Amino acid sequence: MRNPIIGGNWKMNKGTPSEAIKMLKELIPLVEKMKSVDIVIAPPFTALFSTIQTVKNSNIMVGAQNMYYEEKGAFTGEVSPIFLNDLGCEYVILGHSERRDIFNESDDLINKKLKTALKSDLKPIVCIGEHLEEREAGRTKEVIENQFNLTFKDLKSEELSRVIIAYEPIWAIGTGKTATPEQAEEIHIFIRELITKIYGKNTAQTIRIQYGGSIKPTNAKEIFDKENIDGGLVGGASLQSKSLYEIIKAAEESIN
Ligand code: 13P
Repeated sequence: MRNPIIGGNWKMNKGTPSEAIKMLKELIPLVEKMKSVDIVIAPPFTALFSTIQTVKNSNIMVGAQNMYYEEKGAFTGEVSPIFLNDLGCEYVILGHSERRDIFNESDDLINKKLKTALKSDLKPIVCIGEHLEEREAGRTKEVIENQFNLTFKDLKSEELSRVIIAYEPIWAIGTGKTATPEQAEEIHIFIRELITKIYGKNTAQTIRIQYGGSIKPTNAKEIFDKENIDGGLVGGASLQSKSLYEIIKAAEESIN
């Protein structure tokens, strides 16, 4: 069985320690009994340290939103996986569509980051997803397959099994437009088929695939109820403790 995983991707919000701490202090008591869902909060770098300190002894884990693929050196403005590890950060989001589209990150760069993250024992949450024009042109599966092949290039089965994949259709991110549970499930099944082709059925069945894109308390349960959807990566609705709590509750209820 795959435990659902809910990620709160705060993006460039709540980056001051005081805002992050306030939100986390509200969230911790709300979710403390929810042991069957993995909960990961990914704040901006500036709030990572205070987030890690605040969630110590709780069931909330912490992720970074990005990192560089080198461990140290003359890379002004970049953050090394070694720094993240040392800070107590367990997860790292890689290849988010905002990184790909706004900061021109290529599949090749994300592949390099992914390999370094795995070497550093960080648990990568790797995002893939299609643009609206690609979906409308009937190219969704072709785009996903291409991203999958390049982003996970040369990964061993043991390495891929430490990865969490987030399917985030770009047209559903921050738009209020959610993929229907059926649209999301279709692509999650397709991603499992891609994994099966290269790594076999066992690996494909153990890897968690989250959905991301306008998840809200009102639509979370019907999405998480789908067999191949193992939780979600939440943007906007992860910024308020109550809405994030309700989404986590929906993930827990989807297990039963
Ligand atoms: P929204 O939930 O705001 O649509 O963002 C989704 C996302 O990009 C999570 O990484």
